[in-house]
Amino acid sequence: MSPLQHRSSVASSARDGTRLARELRRASYPPPYPDGWYRLLNSAQLRRGQLRYLECLGRALVIWRSEHSDDVFAMEAFCPHLGANLAHGKVRGSRVECPFHAWQLTGDGRVARVPYSDTPPQRSITESFPVEEVHGQILMYHRGGGTPQHAGENVPCPAPRVAEIDDGSFVYRGHNDAGRARVHMIELIENAADPAHFARLHNRMHVPWTRIPIPGVELEHFPRTDFDTDTEPWRLSLPIETMVKIRGRRITASRSRAVVTYTCAGGILNLRITTPGVGVVEIIQTQLPIGPLEQQVDFRWFAEPAIPRIVVWYIVGNWVSQWRNDVRIWQSKVFRDTPTLSRGDGPVMRLRRWYSQFYPESETAPGRDLSHRPGNDVLPTAID
Ligand code: FES
Ligand SMILES: [Fe+2]
Repeated sequence: MSPLQHRSSVASSARDGTRLARELRRASYPPPYPDGWYRLLNSAQLRRGQLRYLECLGRALVIWRSEHSDDVFAMEAFCPHLGANLAHGKVRGSRVECPFHAWQLTGDGRVARVPYSDTPPQRSITESFPVEEVHGQILMYHRGGGTPQHAGENVPCPAPRVAEIDDGSFVYRGHNDAGRARVHMIELIENAADPAHFARLHNRMHVPWTRIPIPGVELEHFPRTDFDTDTEPWRLSLPIETMVKIRGRRITASRSRAVVTYTCAGGILNLRITTPGVGVVEIIQTQLPIGPLEQQVDFRWFAEPAIPRIVVWYIVGNWVSQWRNDVRIWQSKVFRDTPTLSRGDGPVMRLRRWYSQFYPESETAPGRDLSHRPGNDVLPTAID
């Protein structure tokens, strides 16, 4: 090994842990793909007549948009005939055409046309998925449990929508591809039930979008952990109030309120920040599991039109900076089935019981049976 290779291997071990640490981490977590809505792509990434291949949620998918309408479809990528990758084919009208023998399939997985036969197979149905386009994002509902999904199936919870974006009270102000985070989805959820880390990880104001602290400017948080799941069982909301302190002095006029809302397993997180004298900013943060401990993270934000863009950019950049502090811890920790908790800790186990609804009965969920993690034994490794 050259000195350069050695240095880079030391740097990578420091960041990701040793092979042993990675194996311990993976074995400790619940199954990686809980049920729920996930963002696959931004709408702008899929033009009419375009198709794409995507690996996520333990699946290989082909996603395409109709040539003559905005309809989007997501389906298992491999052709039911002899297995070619449909993403190398073409969109024909609203169907996808295989590159191998030119069979055409509809978005609900049926064979619609075989060029050399008048009687296409009727019984073959390729697995397809419910898809919705919301606020400039293409969302898919993923369900575990082993039985194939179908694009037209009933979904237990609606895709999350923000009424103020729909009615034009909030306008689009930007998005950011935050890349990959080597974490399990549940860490994002448990964040809400763990107020004890706020004073340690989130007590400094940073230069927006960076982890560089601004000297003399601190943040004081007033989190609540009595999360509210009354209205819809699949949604959890948690308010947090924050005040700026400059050189130790509280600036009471700066007290802002953030409400974090998780929908289903946490693939889509809405953060609404209300700042007195400024207005309301809504951030949609999405996590798409690429592998057992690997999320593709994206931020997209909207705001009241009167708020200057630079102020919106600052508010969003501060949130992303604080999130990066969390990620730094999450990327090297294990999941404790039975954590040792102390007075002052939040309702971690109550939150895990809520979260277990997003695992089918066949899977081992946090807060259900914590003794065995069979799902992790058979999944592909994403962090080697
Ligand atoms: S493999 Fe797809 S048409 Fe033959
Ligand atoms: Fe946090």
